[in-house]
Amino acid sequence: MKDAFGLPQSLLVLGGTSEIALATARRLIARRTRTVWLAGRPSPALEEAAGQLRGLGADVHTVTFDALDPASHEAVLGKVFAEGDVDMVLLAFGLLGDQARDEREPEAAVRVAQTNYTGAVSAGLVCARSLQSQGHGSLVVMSSVAGERARRANFIYGSSKAGLDAFAQGLGDALHGTGVHVMVVRPGFVRTRMTAGLPEAPLATTPEAVAAAVELGLRRRSETVWVPGTLRVVMAALRHLPRGVFRRLPV
Ligand SMILES: NC(=O)c1ccc[n+]([C@@H]2O[C@H](COP(=O)([O-])OP(=O)(O)OC[C@H]3O[C@@H](n4cnc5c(N)ncnc54)[C@H](OP(=O)(O)O)[C@@H]3O)[C@@H](O)[C@H]2O)c1
Repeated sequence: MKDAFGLPQSLLVLGGTSEIALATARRLIARRTRTVWLAGRPSPALEEAAGQLRGLGADVHTVTFDALDPASHEAVLGKVFAEGDVDMVLLAFGLLGDQARDEREPEAAVRVAQTNYTGAVSAGLVCARSLQSQGHGSLVVMSSVAGERARRANFIYGSSKAGLDAFAQGLGDALHGTGVHVMVVRPGFVRTRMTAGLPEAPLATTPEAVAAAVELGLRRRSETVWVPGTLRVVMAALRHLPRGVFRRLPV
């Protein structure tokens, strides 16, 4: 069960090697999280991540999860919930892709869309149903500012995040009043392996800052969290710029 401050005792991470997710898990373990499920594609990195969290005192399990295999989600995630209540699900898997290659190779673009959107719709609905059966818990969804307005430079990733964001908002409304809380997190540029080698965007931030914002959002039971918070205002302005002006911006 969550404590009086809304922080989870048990956590299921979808995308178990995500740097943002692991920073969040470390922060929550330092508060009161005791059980962590890292769901992801089997790899040495997944086992290493589990080992590091165990070193912080948590009881950590790994489970095979592939966003691109929605037919397996019900069985894989159902087994986790069958082991006991999950207070928080962190949906953190995602693929940035390579915009230039993905425009040339539609199959690669589809992989981005299927991972970020279709995979999340499937896993999100499976988890939402289990959380609803429990009658409590938070589903925290890693969206992105990239979904706020499609940019020339990454509209394939951006459009997949726009779909994910809209899905998560709707799911939050559907679950309102059930005891289940859905929180949409919209980070800007975060320094992780996903963005390694890319030119840094203004207001760039860190996985630890996202983790701190997630903790605050859980305590406040927020529905939407921007990281950094100033991006809310920046994106509100950018969202309303005329197309012709937005197109010429170096974003
Ligand atoms: N970094 C940023 O600037 C930024 C900004 C806004 C939002 N976000 C979002 O935040 C989330 C975490 O990103 P991050 O920066 O922590 O990136 P990351 O370290 O690259 O993590 C991405 C995660 O997605 C997993 N993944 C990819 N395809 C998968 C699949 N088919 N099935 C299961 N897992 C899959 C990866 O697992 P493997 O180890 O198997 O590859 C990895 O765990 C993502 O949704 C990302 O879009 C990131």
